[in-house]
Amino acid sequence: MQAQTGKGTTVYGNYIDGKWQVNDDMFAVMNKYTGEELARVSKASKEDVEKAVTSALHTFHTKKLSPVERYEILMRAADSIKERREELALILVAEVGKVLKDARGEIDRGIQTLIASAEEAKRIAGQGVPLGQPGNENKMAFTVRVPVGVIGAITPFNFPFNLTVHKVGPALAAGNTIVLKPAEMTPIIAMKLAEILEEAGLPAGFLNVVNGFGPETGQYLLEDERIAMFTFTGSPGVGRHIKSTTGIRRVTLELGNNSPNIVHRDAPDLGKAAELCVTRGFSNAGQACISVQRVYVHRDVYDSFVEQAVKVAHSLKVGDPTDPATDVGPMISEKEAKRAEAWISEAIAQGAKAACGGKREGAVLYPTVLVDVTSEMKVVCQEVFAPVISIIPFDDIEDAFRQANDSRLGLQVGLFTANLQLAMRAVHELEFGGVIINDVSTYRADVMPYGGVKDSGIGKEGPRWAVEEMTEERVVVINLS
Ligand code: SIN
Repeated sequence: MQAQTGKGTTVYGNYIDGKWQVNDDMFAVMNKYTGEELARVSKASKEDVEKAVTSALHTFHTKKLSPVERYEILMRAADSIKERREELALILVAEVGKVLKDARGEIDRGIQTLIASAEEAKRIAGQGVPLGQPGNENKMAFTVRVPVGVIGAITPFNFPFNLTVHKVGPALAAGNTIVLKPAEMTPIIAMKLAEILEEAGLPAGFLNVVNGFGPETGQYLLEDERIAMFTFTGSPGVGRHIKSTTGIRRVTLELGNNSPNIVHRDAPDLGKAAELCVTRGFSNAGQACISVQRVYVHRDVYDSFVEQAVKVAHSLKVGDPTDPATDVGPMISEKEAKRAEAWISEAIAQGAKAACGGKREGAVLYPTVLVDVTSEMKVVCQEVFAPVISIIPFDDIEDAFRQANDSRLGLQVGLFTANLQLAMRAVHELEFGGVIINDVSTYRADVMPYGGVKDSGIGKEGPRWAVEEMTEERVVVINLS
């Protein structure tokens, strides 16, 4: 059993070598809208982390699952998630503050990510290597892909189900074992995933879950040299720390973005572009690495775009995430909402205007559209990670490209234009991991490669690409003479 009921509160342990282990040292997980305590979670000690890594390493060396067994376990887990969809969505509503429709959407995405991971388990293959140089006549070569070993996975609070599946699914599909450290604000859903995988037949030791509050648990993992690879989604600051601590070990880092979206004067449907920029800038309360943040709009259509964007923003229902009609719920904490509110106030003091929003009630920040911003304002040049977008006019598309690229971050960018040649130029000139034409930067299909350039990270997610990151290509040479 994963959880015990103590004095009126649910208590969760750490999942080590197939057993749930409860400690006295606990932290509380709160409902992000009501502020009530949802559960208490055991903090993993250094010793717990060591045990989890020992279990993962021992399992890697002693138990093997065939590709078909891995496929079947992941598919059974996907089926079970389908059956438990509503229960799992309600966990996201409570521990993230995610609005119900987005929570259901995240569970549905997680199911598809798991299925895509399962399918990859059966497709892992190397390639033939032609040795067409003199002296190699009696040799043949090919490669095989082998799992890297123990993977340390550190996951974020904003999509704590689907982004955990994006790490755990491909890691298991590729034949690795994992030690997972879920986000401290939202650990419950990750433990449900572990429970579901166990019920689906995943043997002990393949997945271990260690919880912590603050940086210690992650640091214990980073310092454990038995972990062959880390996969992390979070802030560039922590990403840099992971990169500098892990030396020559492998890392996949999915970090932030202050996502630009360019709306040219020939955008095929200006109203649709405005609607997408607003709804996708404010979904998940703006807490997505690819959330629309900077919107560059050609001056010829700027006023009309702003008017339509503000109209859409006003139509959004804000507040209680359990209400199926709510579009924008609370942010992850009141502290974060206050931080974003302070950035808005600072921008306004520097000359920006709020065309709508700017108001905060507890952890709920009202969808905010800013105009008259400058590139030095934090709401523009840093990742705002809140329901705040800035709309900025441009006269010349070259200048829009330059401003979009003028950032240390480069995850995804959106461009609205009917001009195919311009779109193709953008593909080459915009310095991002993903260029989305006629949709917003927030667009993500879970099967596509996902990962940024510059400070947005290294490596790709998306099951096919993650499996590549999580396997070594080993060359085999056979001497036929
Ligand atoms: C992220 O915040 O990087 C994930 C966004 C998504 O998967 O939609």
